[in-house]
Amino acid sequence: MSNGSTLWHGRFEGGPAEALMAYTVSLPFDRRLGPQDVRGSRAHVAGLVRAGLMSSEDGDLVIEALDRVETELAEGTLEFLPSDEDIHTAVERRVTELAGEAGARLHTARSRNDQVATDLRLWTREALTDVVDGVLALQEVLASRAAQTFDVTLPGYTHLQRAQSVSLSHHLMAHAWALSRDVDRLLSTITRADVSPLGAGALAGTSLPIDPEFTARELGFAAVFDNSLDAVGDRDFVAEALFDLALLGVHLSRIGEEWVLWTSEEFGFARLDDAYATGSSMLPQKKNADIAELARGKSGRLIGHLTGLLATLKGLPLAYNRDLQEDKEPLFDAVDQVVLALSAIGGMIATAEFAPEAMDAASGAEVLAATDLAEFLVRAGHPFREAHATVGALVRRHLGGEGSLADLAAADLGEEVRAFFGGLNGASMRTSRGGGSPAACREQHARLMQRLETDRGRRAGQRA
Ligand code: ARG
Repeated sequence: MSNGSTLWHGRFEGGPAEALMAYTVSLPFDRRLGPQDVRGSRAHVAGLVRAGLMSSEDGDLVIEALDRVETELAEGTLEFLPSDEDIHTAVERRVTELAGEAGARLHTARSRNDQVATDLRLWTREALTDVVDGVLALQEVLASRAAQTFDVTLPGYTHLQRAQSVSLSHHLMAHAWALSRDVDRLLSTITRADVSPLGAGALAGTSLPIDPEFTARELGFAAVFDNSLDAVGDRDFVAEALFDLALLGVHLSRIGEEWVLWTSEEFGFARLDDAYATGSSMLPQKKNADIAELARGKSGRLIGHLTGLLATLKGLPLAYNRDLQEDKEPLFDAVDQVVLALSAIGGMIATAEFAPEAMDAASGAEVLAATDLAEFLVRAGHPFREAHATVGALVRRHLGGEGSLADLAAADLGEEVRAFFGGLNGASMRTSRGGGSPAACREQHARLMQRLETDRGRRAGQRA
């Protein structure tokens, strides 16, 4: 490789070793920052012209070259060279080919350190906004399936043991509420990513008269850095994004686990649409919930990305260190995986067919009325602990083969308790706020729709 090929060749007598380039290049993955690099460079050029560090003629030439590079990137016609270490090098090299000496002024008062931080913040702002869109879309699927299933009951579980019957809509909306916290977190991470590091230079600012506030405004950043050392070394926004995506991934994993169970023959609570199920290469009868399983499986990788980045960051001295180049692959992959998951899971849930008869049969199991019987005794004035023991004894007799729980309870407590048996009967009694009755779920649904509306508004307020 020729000595004159890198951005930093001046200080070196010999060219870089193949092994060095092979190990250190980031172009294969950071080319994804191309559009952001062009935008950041445009703002930087505007700042240089404004500061009198570049003539407006040169500025026009460089902007024109940047426009061309943007098109070449979009069309995939930008030819990369072996000496292009990263996307920043490639863009500047191409701009200089196109704009000559004017292009050679582009990197005035700028370092790749503030440049890469700027590009990545721009990218993160947009990518997390896309993730928010995906989360909102999945919440809408859950909300619309919930609106169809107020009067279907299934057992609510604790310890995966049947506990009390609840409306199916209650189950579906439980996941939607968890997702609303993900929306909160993502929007709040965006506000902390929305700070411009451009103008921090390599680490210490510059002796040239640039105006970081101007370039921040040009790029639509809400704020500008206060400390150049921090600005180039800070990847908190990446760690936060990875945490948000990991926890969102955990929520999707829990949905996935539920659907693996629901679609199993043992539960039989839902049937997947053919378009969202997979078959087996050997077992002709199989219809598998691979989307649900991968939502579960890929959450491991999302957690890994977070812990990997935190480990990379923990020992770094101020300010920029090349270690920071390791921020991109996990972030890109986490965003890609979560966006794909949201859409696949949304499609799976939107098209699945529920099996209300199987759910109702399971939620009609007699013992699920036990708590309702105890609460009946509480309404009649008994202390709850005593009522619990009374019903517990009835359950023990029932399980010991003395008869159905309904008969035993009717004999001891009165015929009216027969009305508590049956999934929907039991569920209908749990009308407390946020509870599992169809009536409480209708109210909950109205609050969920309100919340979705608010969150769509908050999302629309994002600049990206
Ligand atoms: N590819 C590098 C990264 O992703 C860009 C910054 C390089 N800066 C440097 N001083 N070598 O971090």
